[in-house]
Amino acid sequence: MSAAKELEDAAGKYASEAIRFDSQGARGMAIQSYQSAISTLIKLAKIYPDYKLNKLYIDRASTYQARIKALSSVHGNTILDPQTNEQVQEDGLNNGSQAPQIVQSLKASYDELIMKEKPDVNWNDVIGLDVSKKALRESIIFPVQRPDLFPLGWPRGILMYGPPGCGKTMLAAATATEIDGYFLTVDAATIMSKWLGEAEKNVAKLFNSAREMLNDGAKSVIIFIDELDSLLGSRNQEVGGEIRVRNQFLKEMDGIMDKGKNLHMYIIGATNKPWALDWPFLRRFQRRVYVHLPDVDARIAMFRDYTTPIKLDNVKLEDIAELTDGYSGSDIKDICQSVLISVVSELFAKGEAENKDSKPRDITLDDFKEILKKKRPSVSGEMLRAYVQWSENYKAL
Ligand SMILES: Nc1ncnc2c1ncn2[C@@H]1O[C@H](COP(=O)(O)OP(=O)(O)OP(=O)(O)O)[C@@H](O)[C@H]1O
Ligand SMILES: [Mg+2]
Repeated sequence: MSAAKELEDAAGKYASEAIRFDSQGARGMAIQSYQSAISTLIKLAKIYPDYKLNKLYIDRASTYQARIKALSSVHGNTILDPQTNEQVQEDGLNNGSQAPQIVQSLKASYDELIMKEKPDVNWNDVIGLDVSKKALRESIIFPVQRPDLFPLGWPRGILMYGPPGCGKTMLAAATATEIDGYFLTVDAATIMSKWLGEAEKNVAKLFNSAREMLNDGAKSVIIFIDELDSLLGSRNQEVGGEIRVRNQFLKEMDGIMDKGKNLHMYIIGATNKPWALDWPFLRRFQRRVYVHLPDVDARIAMFRDYTTPIKLDNVKLEDIAELTDGYSGSDIKDICQSVLISVVSELFAKGEAENKDSKPRDITLDDFKEILKKKRPSVSGEMLRAYVQWSENYKAL
């Protein structure tokens, strides 16, 4: 995602340049810079089609487009409506009165970026990870069910850390399902996006939304912050910005611990880079859970799940599980998908796919081996050692 960050930064630079020229009345320069901002935003949206902020980027791009149109149809100090060529406004541009509106229009999009949902993931969908499940049960599920049994209180912040694709997001969602709670999910990179205005205000808004839901009668709310490390990251170019975000976050966490003592509001943070978090941050996540790569039993269970719709030719799940030590849950899903695609392609290559009744051949262990040659584990040994090392120092179960 770091290339995305670079593009986002570049687009931000062009846009603020454009707005500056615009408010100075330097029409030509403004148009040029808006144009560069637009092409950068479009590039970003094309390269990362699934990125959450894409809708925002496209909205931004069209706002700039409209502004370019308005700027281009200026005659003297008069703006003409580009469609009708009628005069719509006297001298609206040279004093920059429209430029601030461009900034304004992006703030509204914040609400669209937090997802309020009742997730559809169950405890049993999460394979393995018994220790992590136990920690979540003890810290969230039990206190919600029987708060009277916890006179000394209970933790509110739970950190899940570990390599990508091992079930952090799934675990958080399953916890919310289990307590029939509301689930606010947002990724920290989004909170920090310069396109959403000031990041510390976004943090405050996030916690406010959760409090409102509880006031409106929700029994419990889980705020799930993905990529938690980005809150401390170097995204916000503005000097001192990160410190303000960090302080706001710490303040909100403390608020839950004292004023919100009886409310069932929980913060689950997830990160692939736990070492990027500093101690004041960590301290407020009283439980810190390592969400590790699947062990051999978990891998067997995953292969069993993902191969349910596939016909296997004498393949022992134990054998593939043995071959995939070091692969993550999401790697395993990809492997099963690739292996199926490979036999389906054979069917197409042979020209048999046109016959609607034709079926791909059964899959052998060699098919899996072939895919494994091409797909290495997405987590390196070095990275794994770093997690183990960090766990030794900071794990808190
Ligand atoms: N323990 C698991 N049980 C079942 N499925 C899993 C498990 N781990 C990973 N998967 C599969 O991999 C996908 C990705 O998992 P998930 O999004 O929970 O990973 P993550 O740890 O949150 O990754 P990231 O750090 O990249 O956000 C899941 O949708 C699921 O299909
Ligand atoms: Mg995730």
